[in-house]
Parts: sequence; C-alpha cells; structure tokens
Amino acid sequence: MKILTVVGARPQFIKCAPVSRELRKEHEEILVHTGQHYDREMSDLFFEELKIPRPDHNLGIGSGTHGRQTGAMLAGIEEVILAEEPDLLLVYGDTNSTLAGALAAAKLHVPVAHVEAGLRSFDRRMPEEINRVLTDHISDLLLCPTETAVENLRREGITAGVHLTGDVMVDALLEHAEVARASPVLADLGLDHYRLATVHRAENTDDPARLAAIMRALGDLGDVVLPCHPRTEKMLKNAGLYEEAKRRIRLIPPVGYLEMLALEAGAKQILTDSGGVQKEAYVLGVPCITMRETTEWVETVEDGWNVLVGSDYDAIVGAARTFAPERERSDVFGKGEAARAIAAVIGQMGE
Ligand code: UD1
Ligand code: UDP
Repeated sequence: MKILTVVGARPQFIKCAPVSRELRKEHEEILVHTGQHYDREMSDLFFEELKIPRPDHNLGIGSGTHGRQTGAMLAGIEEVILAEEPDLLLVYGDTNSTLAGALAAAKLHVPVAHVEAGLRSFDRRMPEEINRVLTDHISDLLLCPTETAVENLRREGITAGVHLTGDVMVDALLEHAEVARASPVLADLGLDHYRLATVHRAENTDDPARLAAIMRALGDLGDVVLPCHPRTEKMLKNAGLYEEAKRRIRLIPPVGYLEMLALEAGAKQILTDSGGVQKEAYVLGVPCITMRETTEWVETVEDGWNVLVGSDYDAIVGAARTFAPERERSDVFGKGEAARAIAAVIGQMGE
C-alpha cells in the first residue's frame, strides 16, 4: 500500500517514529511535514534523534491564525494527495495538521487512519477538541490508545473501523528510556532535586491572568525547571512577565526528546498542561500535577498519579506541596506494542 503520513507538530514527530518504522517494512510511506512547527528544537532535532526519515514534502506553512494555518495546510496537502495518489492517509493526535490532513483526504475519497482516535476532554473551547472530534468523524480507521477512547467513540455512534492498539508514545518511551538515562542533561544543568514544568496550552498562555498565576505559583515553588515552548515565551514577553519568570524559574529552551525523558524521569514531580507529558509522567512513575480543568488521559487521574488543578495559584502550590500518589500503576496505555498493532490493522486493510 502507498501511505501518505501527515505530521507537523512536535508530539506528532515522536508518535510517528515507531509507526513509520513498522509501516516501512511492508508498505511505501510518503511523509509530509506541514511546517506547523519549524524551529530546529521543535522539529529537526526530533527527526535526527528519533531517526525519522526525511519528509518527502515540506509544505513550510508555519504559524498563523487557526483558519489561515489550517486552510493553507488543506490546500497544500490536497496538492500532494493529487500528485501522490495514496491508498491511505495517516494522521496523528489533535493539531491543526491532523484536521487538515484528514479533511483533505476525506474530500478526495482517500481513506483516513487516525492514530490517537477517541480522546476527548469534552471541552469544545479547546482547539484540539474540535480537531479530534472532526477528524474522528471522517476517519475510516480509528486507532485508539485506550478502552476509554473506544467507549468515547461508541457514545458518538462510531463503531466501524475502531481498533484498540495501545499508545504509540509508550512505544517511543520504552524504546528510548535507556539511552535517555545516559543523557548528560541533568549534570549539565546541575540539577538534583527539582520539579519539571511545561506550559503551552492556549487556554493558559493566551490569558495573561492565567499565565501570571501559573508563573507566580511555579516561581514560588522555587525549584522549577521549565523547557519553554516558543508560544509561551512569546506570550510571557507580550504580557510583560518574561523577565520576572526568568528570575524565579529555570527557563530553558525546548529540549530534545531524550533530554526531556531524562528530565522527566529525574524530577520529583511534574507540573504540566501537555497531553503527552501527563502520560509520560504516569509511565515513568513521576507524580503529575496538571494545570488544566480537564484531561483526555483520565486513567492517570483515576489511578491517583495525576491531579487536575487548573490555573489557580493556591491549587497549584497546594498540590505541589502535598500530592503523593499511593496506588499501583497499570499498563493501561499498552506495553509498547502499539506501532506493531497499528501496522497490522493497516496491513489488513490493504488485503
Ligand atoms: C500546537 C497544537 C497543540 C499541541 C502543540 C504541541 C494546534 C491548534 N495546537 O500548539 O495541540 O499541543 O502544538 O507542541 O494545532 N512557534 C514558534 N516556533 C515553532 C512553532 C511555533 O515560534 O517552531 C510559535 C509561534 O509564535 C506560533 C505559536 O508558537 O504562533 C503557536 O504555534 P502553533 O503551532 O500554532 O500552536 P502550538 O501552541 O505550538
Ligand atoms: N517534549 C520534548 N521537549 C520539550 C517538551 C516536550 O521532547 O521541551 C516532548 C514530551 O516528552 C512529549 C511531547 O514532547 O513526548 C509532548 O509534546 P507537547 O507537550 O508539545 O504537546 P502535547 O502532547 O500537549 O500535544
């Protein structure tokens, strides 16, 4: 089969690495990078570290408002589909690149496979929730990381083409955990007892009051290291919060995947609004405080390893000082065999 894979943002590079390797054993894969993320440390670094094949097409779309960015991707991907005539289009997660890829293919009657199908926060104000719901409803293969995701789809009337495969981020994590442990990043940064934080969700960065409360809380904890997403750096500067944040929090540029796994594994606690980082914290057994009101990864909360605190100063600081998971973790996100399961499902489709 000829598979056209569309990626564009940091978490998608990580997710596609194990799947791409499996698919290429049996199929032809054409890789399209929309250019949604373009800084070296948000893009090229991951292709190098994870040995992802060079994209066959880089659309170079870059940043923009939702409509402008998604529209430009839609037009660009459509051209590639018409030129390449794939049998299947594969997308990951919930970004604007995901929706643009799925929509371009569906309109041209090219079947769509969605990795990380069925995730829901049930908050339609999140751009990611819109992207997920729409993508799932035009997908032919819905590759779900968890039972919860399968159930979410069932409630929306989607049962055909649904497969429980496990989570590909677990595959990537297990494959790289050992190499990551040898990373010199902790020694280089002189880190011993520290909390790791990431913030980039639009609901937190684009509201100066929320961003200020989060930064004040992280600053008061006194031991926070924060690899800073470019969106967050920009919004901190726009809100006049950057210099103070820099004085009180160890702000560092975004790090590569291996360094990130090492920073996560070595942290006494993780504070985040990232989807992927919540899961990695769970798999690594690091207590996670999620600075959001909702999560798609409900199992991490149900098992007592993640707590939702929103952007409230007292809730963040209170949780950071007291949160102590007690229960066993499970392999609810799979055992690192999701890429193989996904390749098998896709293979069956071609038979
Ligand atoms: C996007 C996804 C989000 C995902 C995140 C992963 C959407 C709607 N959002 O959010 O779901 O969790 O990626 O990291 O698709 N920028 C740079 N350099 C880059 C990339 C971005 O400077 O390489 C800055 C630009 O100012 C840009 C801003 O970050 O306007 C936001 O980038 P964008 O891709 O629109 O959204 P993210 O916040 O990265
Ligand atoms: N990540 C990374 N370097 C960083 C921050 C995050 O490699 O500086 C990794 C992280 O380990 C996880 C993924 O990026 O695998 C999560 O991506 P992000 O938080 O950007 O997006 P989300 O998962 O929220 O969509």
